[in-house]
Amino acid sequence: MAIPHIILFGLFAVICSVALAADHSPLQDICVADLAGPVLVNGRPCKDPKLAQADDFFFSGLHMPGNTTNTFGSSVNLVSVAKVPGLNTLGISMARLDYAPWGLNPPHTHPRATEVFTVLEGSFYVGFVTSNPENRLISKVLQKGDAFVFPVGLIHFERNIGHTNGVAIASLSSQNPGAISIGSAVFGSKPDISNVILAHAFQVGKNVTNRIKARF
Ligand SMILES: *[C@@H]1O[C@H](CO)[C@@H](O)[C@H](O)[C@H]1NC(C)=O
Ligand SMILES: *[C@@H]1O[C@H](CO)[C@@H](O)[C@H](O)[C@H]1NC(C)=O
Repeated sequence: MAIPHIILFGLFAVICSVALAADHSPLQDICVADLAGPVLVNGRPCKDPKLAQADDFFFSGLHMPGNTTNTFGSSVNLVSVAKVPGLNTLGISMARLDYAPWGLNPPHTHPRATEVFTVLEGSFYVGFVTSNPENRLISKVLQKGDAFVFPVGLIHFERNIGHTNGVAIASLSSQNPGAISIGSAVFGSKPDISNVILAHAFQVGKNVTNRIKARF
């Protein structure tokens, strides 16, 4: 009897961990986030549904290009629960992404969301890397109208490979997908990760880790 119980428990654990990999399902029609509320919960508390307005479910301005005059030549306008409180508990958000010619959205991950990246203008080289031990790069060149999936949690990037501006829309499976930029997290943390750790981890001298840190 003991072994089947262990197997059942293992199966249960796997099912639970899969279910927890995305935002929780809503338990009511609407739960407009009370963004100013003092209560701290996993997500946002709801305001009284009777007080919900159309504007709680509305966002305007996605026709506006972002400012790509920066180091990477890219910009992200994320429309998450912080901008559209009606997204609270619905497990979805979106973003407009702009790229200067040859602009890059550098390697990053979304800890809570799978992303579907849809090209509106331009050509892109995109890719993601699978987890250990394979660390396989899965990449593709995309044209206008193409879409590509970045699975939840995996490191991915997009580069505009054209002489013109690029525009894309990202759809994300969380009201609050989060983003961890690898360069900023590893070389730009506050306080910084010590060079003893970074030089050992990346198998280079501290002069190299210091130079990279200076860029973040
Ligand atoms: C874009 O960002 C750059 C760098 O921060 C700034 O100098 C420039 O004024 C911005 N352009 C616009 C149109 O806001
Ligand atoms: C970093 O320092 C090592 C020795 O400490 C040296 O061999 C290497 O050339 C240096 N690299 C750079 C980029 O300065």
